[in-house]
Amino acid sequence: MTTLRDKKRSLNEKERAEVPLQPRLKLHKRLVLRRPPQLGNVSRPSPPNSRTAGDEPRNEIKEKPATKPEHEVNPSPKRELEGQNTSLAIEEKQVQSTSDDLEKAQKKVTEATTKNPEIQRVEFALEEYGEAEYSEEEDSVSMEIRQELFSLVKSFPGLSCKYKLIDKIGEGTFSTVYKAYDLQRISETSMGKAVWSSPPKSRMNESTQASDVPIVALKRIYVTSSPSRIYNELQLLHGLVGCPNVAPLIDAVRYEDQVIAVLPFYKHADFRDFYRDLPLSGIKIYMHELFTALSFVHEKRIIHRDIKPTNFLYNPLTRRGVLVDFGLAEKEAEIDYAACPCFQGGPAADEIAPVNAFPTKGYPKDDRRPGRRANRAGTRGFRAPEVLLKCANQTVKVDIWSAGVMLLTLLSRRFPFFNSTDDTAALIEITNIFGLSQMRKCAQLHGLGLESNLPKIESTQSLGALLYTSIFLEAKQGDTLAEDSPAWELLSALDKKGRPADTKLGNNYAEALEVLELCLRLNHNERITADDALKLPFFRSESNDVDDIILD
Ligand SMILES: Nc1ncnc2c1ncn2[C@@H]1O[C@H](COP(=O)(O)OP(=O)(O)O)[C@@H](O)[C@H]1O
Ligand SMILES: [Mg+2]
Repeated sequence: MTTLRDKKRSLNEKERAEVPLQPRLKLHKRLVLRRPPQLGNVSRPSPPNSRTAGDEPRNEIKEKPATKPEHEVNPSPKRELEGQNTSLAIEEKQVQSTSDDLEKAQKKVTEATTKNPEIQRVEFALEEYGEAEYSEEEDSVSMEIRQELFSLVKSFPGLSCKYKLIDKIGEGTFSTVYKAYDLQRISETSMGKAVWSSPPKSRMNESTQASDVPIVALKRIYVTSSPSRIYNELQLLHGLVGCPNVAPLIDAVRYEDQVIAVLPFYKHADFRDFYRDLPLSGIKIYMHELFTALSFVHEKRIIHRDIKPTNFLYNPLTRRGVLVDFGLAEKEAEIDYAACPCFQGGPAADEIAPVNAFPTKGYPKDDRRPGRRANRAGTRGFRAPEVLLKCANQTVKVDIWSAGVMLLTLLSRRFPFFNSTDDTAALIEITNIFGLSQMRKCAQLHGLGLESNLPKIESTQSLGALLYTSIFLEAKQGDTLAEDSPAWELLSALDKKGRPADTKLGNNYAEALEVLELCLRLNHNERITADDALKLPFFRSESNDVDDIILD
């Protein structure tokens, strides 16, 4: 009898003995280092993807996590600190050098705190997602952010009567999002309790004398966004009340060209902090929450267009997920059969104009095929093939593809999974998985020919094999999987060709693979709907917690 753990150990025992295991993040309880305001904020590197609105130039995303990861320790004490509290600065310096080793940092600061009463101003709190206390919140906001909040209030007359800003919680391509007290309790009157039972209520500080004030998120849309885009987002949000997995609009305030959308505040974790740690049962819940949101949105024939982890706020402890950011969303248009033949199965191969003299290297210079324009909004790496191929009849199925990419990311423990720099590279990445002939068929569906002078993309592999290879390489070469990582079980559940084992574990992964395959269909006509996805066995079967299964 070999247990799953034995199998994990024997797999690459030799290599792993040489390199120490990476510390693993714990989801249940986490230590949050709350620095005094003077110490400032640390930003994380922004994700490599970018999103475009239509054919606008791409902007690099600078989304900051709402929850600071454990290993973020201030790299350099700010100037304001100098002279005020030198000993604090020295002790803080000790902490900074250990930025990616939480335990070490924690130990040092704990020691320092006990040694030096001055340092007791540095607060530590064991915080659980979903059970946070907000009463001390304002004290932990950096001076830099306080200044930003102050200038927002100053530049926006009337805002402070309704909302008291607490902190900055996120930054996207088109907006900055702040946390605020809802002073007039607009969130309680404008929305039914059934939609949002404001969990993060707070005792405000003594000067305001208020208690149990609801907390909301203020999304300040950049003035560079066109008025029609802002109107579109607000209008769509306004119609999206009624699903706990979709963030509804509570209020909207405007002053001159500045617009703020008010949404319920959702406490969530940074995707990067949990995507490698979610067991299959957690992935199931995550995807169930996402498909529930999509089912609600798609029923109203709204395409979100920007489904990706930073727009789906997930709390791994409460296991609730909420879809946000309808900045690129649009109503599904009537099908225009003349604009793209994809709803009629596409033209025959010989009806497509061939590319004359396709070069052996580089791109054809004199490509005479007519150009196409279509909405290409979305984020690199999450765009569906029909978006990359500029189909004029895009539907809600573009969101299903993106949801499939999210599932692929979770199962493969790789983020971002696709990492292309432009649409052509993105097509090549997809072609690498599905093979050139499948990709040609997809292009043909949209009335296009597809030529390639790249070798080795004729062969195709199953998504199961892709996942196996992905985890296997990570285990062997990356060596970043902890011994108890849930990723290991995939290697027991599937063989290297991606075929599921005849075990309960194998069956669970087969069900997950079914969802993945139906979401990542190149032909959008064959892609599953959110409603139907929710009916698949993966979401109907019981818990997949099979960590201790005994293998033969
Ligand atoms: N209702 C909310 N509650 C908590 N955090 C939020 C909320 N809405 C947005 N955020 C945070 O702000 C970030 C940016 O918000 P988003 O609506 O995606 O803006 P953008 O359109 O600029 O991308 C999100 O990734 C998230 O971290
Ligand atoms: Mg966003």
